[in-house]
Amino acid sequence: MKIITSIEEMKKWSRSTRSKDKTIGFVATMGSLHEGHLSLIKTSIAKCDTTVVSIFVNPTQFGPNEDFDSYPRHLKSDKQILQTTGIDVLFNPHQNELYPEKFQTFVTVEDKTNYLCGTSRPQFFRGVTTIILKLFNITNPHIAFFGEKDWQQLEVIRTMVHDLNMDVSIVGQPTVRDKDGLAMSSRNCNLSKLEKNSARSLSQALESAQALVVKGERSAENIRTEIRKTIEQKQGTKIDYISVCDPESFAEQTKINSKALVALAVRVGSTRLIDNRIIGKI
Ligand code: PAF
Repeated sequence: MKIITSIEEMKKWSRSTRSKDKTIGFVATMGSLHEGHLSLIKTSIAKCDTTVVSIFVNPTQFGPNEDFDSYPRHLKSDKQILQTTGIDVLFNPHQNELYPEKFQTFVTVEDKTNYLCGTSRPQFFRGVTTIILKLFNITNPHIAFFGEKDWQQLEVIRTMVHDLNMDVSIVGQPTVRDKDGLAMSSRNCNLSKLEKNSARSLSQALESAQALVVKGERSAENIRTEIRKTIEQKQGTKIDYISVCDPESFAEQTKINSKALVALAVRVGSTRLIDNRIIGKI
């Protein structure tokens, strides 16, 4: 595994790989790698001739009162994990090279970012699309892999790629969960044992939402109420949003006709967690 920190060197590697007619798969991460990342990496290795993984905690996607400073950083163990995966390149750029003084260009996807996480984290998607566009320009991948746990992020990136005629395929991968259903997230390492137990209520609530639909429930309001009950029963939880919406536009639904996205953001202690599930008639 080659470790590249310079933008120019990364571009050079990609040019040379493409000139040998080899495909490049790309997995963008902020490090603190877990099974969710490893599943994306595994798929990339299976589908592409070469795989590049980036680790960069992107400051522009964090708001002023968010957890940029306390975001988990485990570069040393991440490198050890990546060594065992068979990837070709770890791209670990420097913040001052990606965002030099006088940096002033951002890319924004409009409608889809006005819902869900876009409401509670107004800077988030602008930061994500900007860094992903930059990373795509630098690594020049054929295919990029993203997790469905961040469903809205995946949709927003797909929209940017479509709208800006970008030459990269976006592949979404199912959420990886622990044996009790908790969705893998780098922020899980901030949870105490008690908080972890409360955090399981997110996936439990999503399961119960699907069970209700299977039983014939069609009212989004009733489903939201049931989810709220399941989560609020657990200690230390504070709901940010519960949405039953269209999986692409994120417009809130009142009735579930065929399928809907149920998306949740919940604070457990001081950690903000998200999870989602497509529900519908089976
Ligand atoms: O999902 C993440 O880890 C980040 O938002 C991403 C896509 C790596 C952009 O910084």
